[in-house]
Amino acid sequence: MKDNVSVQGTAHSDRIHDSAIKHVTGRADYTDDIALPAGALHAYLGVSDVAHATLKGIDLAAVRAAPGVVGVLTAEDVPGVNDISPTGLNDEPVFPTDNIQFHGQPLFAVIAETRDAARRAAELAKVDCDVLPHALDPIAAQDAGCPYVTKPLKLERGDIAPAFKTAPHRIKGRMNVGGQDHMYLEGHIAFAIPGEDDEVVVQCSTQHPSEAQHMVAHVLGVPSNAVVVNVRRMGGGFGGKESQMNLFCAVAAIAAKKWNRAVKIRPDRDQDMTATGKRHDFVIDYDVAFDDAGRIEAVDGSFAARCGFSADLSGPVTDRALFHADNAYFYPNVRLTSHPMKTNTVSNTAFRGFGGPQGVIAAERIIEEIAYATGQDPLDVRKANFYGGEGRDLTPYHQTVEDNILDRLVSELEDSADYRKRRQDIIAFNANSPVLKKGIALTPVKFGISFTATWYNQAGALVHVYNDGSIHLNHGGTEMGQGLNTKVAQIVAEAFQVDIDRIKITKTTTEKVPNTSATAASSGTDLNGMAALDAVKQIQARLVDFAVKKWEVAPEEVLFRANEVHVGAETIPFDTFIKQAYLARIQLSAAGFYKTPKIHWDRDKGQGRPFYYYSYGAACSEVTIDTLTGEYRVERTDLLHDVGRSLNPALDKGQVEGAFVQGMGWLTTEELWWDDAGRLRTHAPSTYKIPLASDRPRVFNVNLADWSENRELTIKRSKAVGEPPFMLGISVFEALSMAVASLADYKTCPRLDAPATPERVLMAVNRLRDGG
Ligand code: MTE
Ligand code: MOS
Repeated sequence: MKDNVSVQGTAHSDRIHDSAIKHVTGRADYTDDIALPAGALHAYLGVSDVAHATLKGIDLAAVRAAPGVVGVLTAEDVPGVNDISPTGLNDEPVFPTDNIQFHGQPLFAVIAETRDAARRAAELAKVDCDVLPHALDPIAAQDAGCPYVTKPLKLERGDIAPAFKTAPHRIKGRMNVGGQDHMYLEGHIAFAIPGEDDEVVVQCSTQHPSEAQHMVAHVLGVPSNAVVVNVRRMGGGFGGKESQMNLFCAVAAIAAKKWNRAVKIRPDRDQDMTATGKRHDFVIDYDVAFDDAGRIEAVDGSFAARCGFSADLSGPVTDRALFHADNAYFYPNVRLTSHPMKTNTVSNTAFRGFGGPQGVIAAERIIEEIAYATGQDPLDVRKANFYGGEGRDLTPYHQTVEDNILDRLVSELEDSADYRKRRQDIIAFNANSPVLKKGIALTPVKFGISFTATWYNQAGALVHVYNDGSIHLNHGGTEMGQGLNTKVAQIVAEAFQVDIDRIKITKTTTEKVPNTSATAASSGTDLNGMAALDAVKQIQARLVDFAVKKWEVAPEEVLFRANEVHVGAETIPFDTFIKQAYLARIQLSAAGFYKTPKIHWDRDKGQGRPFYYYSYGAACSEVTIDTLTGEYRVERTDLLHDVGRSLNPALDKGQVEGAFVQGMGWLTTEELWWDDAGRLRTHAPSTYKIPLASDRPRVFNVNLADWSENRELTIKRSKAVGEPPFMLGISVFEALSMAVASLADYKTCPRLDAPATPERVLMAVNRLRDGG
């Protein structure tokens, strides 16, 4: 079917987010905006104030006696299985029975007439426990002999030992990479309404309604068919609502069934930050061998992660760190190992990039090391090591890189950002500027698209055409601001050749599409867009068949065009045609399905094709640092990002900009800090600093590589966009590093740890100035 320009808002065109106006006028409904039924109650979590202990008992008498309190939930009140671990490892209780595993761990929930009453009462519990020694970070955990929280991974190709022996150069180093709080505008929230018999409906803010449904069923001890989970939209998820919502859904549902009243739970920001998981921090040990030209010969990398007390998604997150530890570079001989350490901290979870950024930054650190050691422009070292050329296209996990476009993409950005000249100017500026120093860096990203858990790469959709010609669209993906619903609606509009306004976007619900995957791994549009298209095609096939019989034409003579259907010589308005089909008893509804082809992965062997394709991008950032205070600002950033054939350039650019800024925040100002007692001290925006509008690059040029087209048969040849541009923020980090390196004539790699807060930059400046 040909594209038709006279239809409004179809694929490959700019189209505002379907809820944009509602978002900015405050008329978009979030879970907290839903009117409560009469008699609704509120829950609040009571948490531990020690990091590790044997739990002997909780005295809840004062809690129960507090004004407004209806009751308390503890582990004993869980009617089904007291476990909400998303991987089935049975290591994450709703509430613990005998063991406290982190400071801030939820121990019980208070149920009260008001949220305020519940919150005040939660403070009144007396916890009886025997404190045990705790390990907070991955190195402390390794030193204390703590176990892995989940099975580690090894990726290996070639033979590193001989390469390390014979290569002319070898550098070893360690890099600390901090975690990150999701800081979604809307925090966690769940609201459960009990139904008759075993039924319950949960309204919440989750990226993974099917998992929430299955978890609620599991903790209630009822089959999944008794539980409905609904999500209209989230006020941001960023991975933080992939599995972390399970706890809140479970608490609300258990309480709703126990008291037979609707129950809502919404932690405040401090509790949201302390009781739910974040991006994993990593300690990365690298060892690299290279030749005089800076070409890598071997890499040995060890990735230890702070996973927290339970596995949650730490297995796939630490796996993805290894999958991206090559970034854009060919390692002829390589060994990469993950060390997912169990620690006495909140269980870390998915966060945009899902471990990938922590792998990519290790690759970029290796490039920096080589560049400073060989006295080259880091961009030249990058180019010398790009995938491509005879025998240089195999990743450490044995997938061949077939679609590499980085040579072109990076060269284009290098030109449009005027990188070479600006770098020379900066070096000249630094030579004459005693206090202010500048830095510039151009960094690439290659990001693998698909869930590495192969079975996750499936999706469903449900499309109804009502007999007035209006269309109801439902699919398994969730909307968190990224514009998934708009894109899928564009796909449906284009397939039917109708205006997008004819399509009603509806909430995600486990009642309409079952067994969905989390909206994650950036694959929401790839998967759900294809499933919706499949549903449309089924309906269209029936409509064509109907027209062929009724008007006695050939199938090729039935064409969907600009809100009309052409049948032979006749032109019928879409709604009239649909009414006729309805009267002829044509089924006007279909369930669509899609599964990603070509992918497979053998984790034990560390080999396969985990990714359907790669998304690429590059960023060039310039910064100025103040060597007296360590403060800095981003002067200019140029981004060039590959989204294949963009389904909606306006939305895609929004994703690229937002992801870049979030990535920059991760590596600059966002610092998570635990004290020795294991208490997170940066648990509110007062102490945890995300980028402000004033922190954005002074000059910000954002472009999509409009010539790119996915070589795989993805939806309309587009590419996933949600996570890959997050790693463009690394350009800011590397530019800061260059500015610091100027203090020692660019001869020493500053080895900045992340986040490079002004404090860290200042310390690095002083270190380099003192010659070490
Ligand atoms: N954009 C907004 N505005 N809000 C979000 O929470 N999450 C990111 C990304 N972009 C997020 C976002 C993450 S972590 C992922 S995996 C993708 O969106 C998920 O959506 P998609 O698969 O539809 O791209
Ligand atoms: Mo995104 S971290 O895959 O939710």
